[in-house]
Amino acid sequence: MAVILITGANRGIGFAMARQAAARGDEVIATARDPESANALRALAQETGRITLRALDVTNEDSIAALAEATKEDVDLLVLNAGVLNSYGGVDDEAHDAGAWRDVLMTNVAGPFLVTRALLSHVERGQGRRIAIVSSVMGSNERASGNAYPYRASKAAAVNVARNLAVELKPRGIAVGAYHPGWVRTDMGGGGADISAEDSAGGLLARFDALSMTTTGVFEDYKGAEIPF
Ligand SMILES: NC(=O)c1ccc[n+]([C@@H]2O[C@H](COP(=O)([O-])OP(=O)(O)OC[C@H]3O[C@@H](n4cnc5c(N)ncnc54)[C@H](OP(=O)(O)O)[C@@H]3O)[C@@H](O)[C@H]2O)c1
Repeated sequence: MAVILITGANRGIGFAMARQAAARGDEVIATARDPESANALRALAQETGRITLRALDVTNEDSIAALAEATKEDVDLLVLNAGVLNSYGGVDDEAHDAGAWRDVLMTNVAGPFLVTRALLSHVERGQGRRIAIVSSVMGSNERASGNAYPYRASKAAAVNVARNLAVELKPRGIAVGAYHPGWVRTDMGGGGADISAEDSAGGLLARFDALSMTTTGVFEDYKGAEIPF
């Protein structure tokens, strides 16, 4: 049995990962910005008896500190899944304004960094000693396609954060990876996406299990294919 903490677990891929981790017997700490309104996650917690809900806004340092304080468990696997995509438009897209840049970069880049920093001692005390940052192939510089600027930049930076953490935390025995979950049918991915959240979550959990000190720094998809960066 492992203790897995998943951010943004009230819907989408995070919710599917929480469900599958609990089903295989892990203890899941599932975070949501507003646990009170996270009805599906609350029902899942009741049904499985293996999920603890905690509040977390990854852009708010007080919220992050409160999560670290409330988490008495050692954490085997920290999954930094929470993310936002503001718009798919190009350079003239008015949605790419300063507020959107702040929101997307804070959530997708600073969020994983700040949550990692706050929970590092929990991960260090755990047996698993793994950190997974959910990035995207859209962050790959080699796959640049001239749109979704804040999101693409944020996901590139998320890989950069993962790679730097992998180097810094190697002497402390903590492995860090960055992952592309596939194009997934969620609120973010849309109904026309390639795969279900369940298929993505199953693949991701298997890749997180395979993360080790020899593969630390990896950037790969939910099937284990390396993403050119
Ligand atoms: N879907 C895809 O095709 C796809 C492809 C590549 C990468 N990804 C990445 O996979 C991850 C999950 O995506 P998804 O498709 O499951 O998205 P989703 O259905 O839109 O869910 C996003 C989750 O992130 C949470 N979140 C957003 N901002 C947050 C904040 N400031 N603090 C805490 N939680 C926050 C949301 O909480 P609320 O309910 O409170 O908003 C929600 O739980 C993201 O990092 C995304 O970029 C997705």
